[in-house]
Amino acid sequence: MKVRKIIAMILISIMVLSLLVGCGPDSESRQSDDAESQSNILVVYYSATGNTEKAADAIAKATGADVFELEPIKAYTEEDLDWTNEDSRVCREHDNEAERDVELVSAAVDNWESYSTVFIGYPIWWGIAAWPVDGFIKANDFTGKTVIPFCTSASSDLGESGELLEKMAGTGEWQIGRRFRSSVSEEDVQVWMEELGIVQ
Ligand SMILES: Cc1cc2nc3c(=O)[nH]c(=O)nc-3n(C[C@H](O)[C@H](O)[C@H](O)COP(=O)(O)O)c2cc1C
Repeated sequence: MKVRKIIAMILISIMVLSLLVGCGPDSESRQSDDAESQSNILVVYYSATGNTEKAADAIAKATGADVFELEPIKAYTEEDLDWTNEDSRVCREHDNEAERDVELVSAAVDNWESYSTVFIGYPIWWGIAAWPVDGFIKANDFTGKTVIPFCTSASSDLGESGELLEKMAGTGEWQIGRRFRSSVSEEDVQVWMEELGIVQ
């Protein structure tokens, strides 16, 4: 009886210990599974007031893509964005192209080479892509990548915003892309992902 109890205690101790240590080979395979689960789709976006961010998050949710937000070092305040005031930051930048050089917190994506498809999202400002995305476009090499622009706007279409960015980039296989209304929904994005054949 005593011997059985001792054996049982030893077996339980071994089980507890192996759980605490993480059982060598098992924990290694979990780690490599995580590494493999990194998506080859990246969603890069700039959003001043959250609409484009909603679309970007919905793409990520539908596809499991990684997300990279473009953040100007000097963020745009509500006053900065007041396009009805000709002295606002955004109006001054619009009127003077030289002032559109918006410095970003970062334009460098970790493991950039691992992504084969890059979605680029932005709000439409005066018919073109909001210029905080420009710094990212100029700083990166899109060679070998499929690039898919998307935007949100009050009423304007995608227009030539994608083509202008394509010219700016000079590399990458750029697709036509898609415009969403400002109040974009997850369903809108899901339908587009299905049309693209990225999800079923
Ligand atoms: C400076 C500025 C210029 C804009 N120009 C246009 C425009 O030309 N056409 C349009 O339909 N909407 C225009 N809008 C509306 C935005 O494109 C729209 O609200 C967009 O969804 C904002 O996205 P965000 O919340 O990601 O910043 C403009 C907004 C701002 C602030």
